[in-house]
Amino acid sequence: MAVLVTGGAGYIGSHTCVELLNVGHEVVVVDNFFNSKLESLKRVSDITGKTFKTYNVDLLNQEGLERVFSENTIESVIHFAGLKAVGESVSFPLWYYHNNLTGTFVLCELMKKYGVKKLVFSSSATVYGSTDQVPISEDAPIAAVNPYGKTKQIIEEILRDLYISDEGWSITLLRYFNPIGAHESGLIGEDPNGIPNNLMPYISQVAVGKLQSLNIFGSDYSTKDGTGVRDYIHVVDLAKGHLKALEKVQSLKGVNAYNLGTGKGYSVLEMVKAFEAASGKKVSYAFTDRRLGDAAICFADVSKAKNELGWVAAKGINEMCQDTWRWQKNNPDGYVKNHDNLIEHDFPVRTSAADFLVSN
Ligand code: NAD
Ligand code: UFG
Repeated sequence: MAVLVTGGAGYIGSHTCVELLNVGHEVVVVDNFFNSKLESLKRVSDITGKTFKTYNVDLLNQEGLERVFSENTIESVIHFAGLKAVGESVSFPLWYYHNNLTGTFVLCELMKKYGVKKLVFSSSATVYGSTDQVPISEDAPIAAVNPYGKTKQIIEEILRDLYISDEGWSITLLRYFNPIGAHESGLIGEDPNGIPNNLMPYISQVAVGKLQSLNIFGSDYSTKDGTGVRDYIHVVDLAKGHLKALEKVQSLKGVNAYNLGTGKGYSVLEMVKAFEAASGKKVSYAFTDRRLGDAAICFADVSKAKNELGWVAAKGINEMCQDTWRWQKNNPDGYVKNHDNLIEHDFPVRTSAADFLVSN
């Protein structure tokens, strides 16, 4: 019986595959490699000493995805696959809604057809919108403010309706706060395309000399030092949270949402200092205007995940920075290799939003 991991080649998916394989799960990965490379999965195999099936399949390709279900005995699904860049979602809303929602529809239809009713879904703290009411608990109002966040919010609602229609489903919605860090081996980590949007990859690319200087978006927030505060969580802790969520869906029916964060907030300036200490490198920065839509402060109430999943984040800010730095300095250009021989099925892989809009 296998765990199907959609988007398993991506940042969080690859770290979760390592944890799944380490505890003996059979893993099947589906990814269209739009935002990832096969090399990440080759390295998952190197880290764990295990092999697993990988399908180069787009979730929108129902026929391709059905082959995955028919060729494997899938018991549960962890659904990471999705587009995730906020700014891009504002520019290309139809693309985001189509990819994230239709991908989920196709997946759930096939799960239903094959009697697979255990699902762990990657949601996001973005569903809470730009609230400054912290700590944020799972029953805080849901009010996403951009198309990306709305895809998560809508999928959460769809999954709740799915359960209402059939109480055989068991679904866990994981609302991640700010995942950063990398596997301690330095072999897998975050590999953003182009100039990073998020703070940590930006800082680490300044430290390694790929970028000149960090723009700090806003210095006049009502926070400890005027810069934005977030709940950064080590990606390996996050990956382990998925194992707990998987246990939960085996034992309990229903739809349950959990925050995955540390419950602690760090400012941008604190992150810069922590990264400098971990790397021994200077991170140049300049203050600029606030970024539209950013909340001043955001951190999680993590008591529900602790009480119901038995999960707490173990790694602190120093480990997050050290592990990010190890990954960044060992892989200044991210994953450069590709491994076509790992592909089971070779469907066309989209390369840009424009491509998508033309060909679909
Ligand atoms: P990622 O982009 O590294 O991984 C997502 C993977 O899904 C990629 O490998 C991509 O190629 C694949 N994918 C996208 N659309 C697909 C499709 N139609 N068919 C098949 N594969 C497809 O992103 P990540 O950071 O690992 O995030 C994983 C999930 O967690 C996403 O759903 C994301 O929205 C969510 N999330 C991420 C963060 C974060 O800050 N990284 C925060 C909250 C939630
Ligand atoms: N920041 C900078 N400069 C940068 C990038 C970020 O100052 O170059 C600041 C932001 O203003 C914010 C903090 O660093 O105060 C963190 O910003 P990120 O872009 O790293 O993360 P966000 O909290 O804005 O959002 C991220 C993901 C969202 C997700 C959210 C919660 O991008 O998709 O975490 O999980 F929803």
